[in-house]
Amino acid sequence: AQKKTILDLCKMKATGEKAVWVTAYDCCFAAYAEKAGMDMILVGDSMGMVVYGYQGTIPVTMDMCINHCQAVRRGAPNTYIIGDMPFGSYHESVGDAVHNAIRFAKEADVDAIKLEGGVAVADVIKAIAQAGIVVFGHIGLTPQSSAAMGGFRAQGRTADSARGVIEDAIAVYEAGARAVLVEGVPEEVCTIIHKTLPIPVYGIGAGSDTDGQVLVVGDALGMFEAFKPKFAKRYADIASVATKAFAQFIKETKEGSFPASEHKYSISGDSAEFKTL
Ligand code: KIV
Ligand code: NA
Repeated sequence: AQKKTILDLCKMKATGEKAVWVTAYDCCFAAYAEKAGMDMILVGDSMGMVVYGYQGTIPVTMDMCINHCQAVRRGAPNTYIIGDMPFGSYHESVGDAVHNAIRFAKEADVDAIKLEGGVAVADVIKAIAQAGIVVFGHIGLTPQSSAAMGGFRAQGRTADSARGVIEDAIAVYEAGARAVLVEGVPEEVCTIIHKTLPIPVYGIGAGSDTDGQVLVVGDALGMFEAFKPKFAKRYADIASVATKAFAQFIKETKEGSFPASEHKYSISGDSAEFKTL
């Protein structure tokens, strides 16, 4: 299939076809996602937890994101790829933010970038969008500011908090974001955002009233065992498949049944000569 554009994503919104995306950080899983027909792949800063074993996304750097975006692009050459801007890459100055967004486009061939925040980052979104880069907003539960939120907590559960999330949605749209991801809010809040914004509204832990859904690959495939968010659904159990396979490899090697004859090279020369080596 041909790689989608932002116009295709808008068309899907118009026709009511849900867009589905998943995170990926490496070439193999990117290829599986593309083969399955995933509409988009997010190279999420969730790599901090899923790939690197950190407690959160704060330690993730620009170079880590660029490297993983490049690997994902090699694995999924025909899939719409979103690069996630890591903590610190768009917080110091607008100039810095534009510079880093441009790195994603130039060095990693992404189709869009995503960054967290609403009203507070409207100027940053505006500047990046004006550089011609497609920006996805990300509002609600924003893991990069989990310290300020007091942890990975759902947002918008009170009227005051919900108002804030809705204001953030409008701010990112007005700043020029072409799509927005709403994370960790009651369905009612996302319904209002979905009704209000003319751009695609995607959700993770935000209910059904969206233009599509995203899951973190570690959650979707049961690879990431440190914790499971309420909104994550496990579609596979890679952790147990991999652990069982490793255990079998250990067992067969210890008992000598691996490698077997089909795993061995045969000599192509005169076997008699080999006897005198
Ligand atoms: O980094 C990530 O995986 C995300 C999720 C919310 C999809 O941003
Ligand atoms: Na992220």
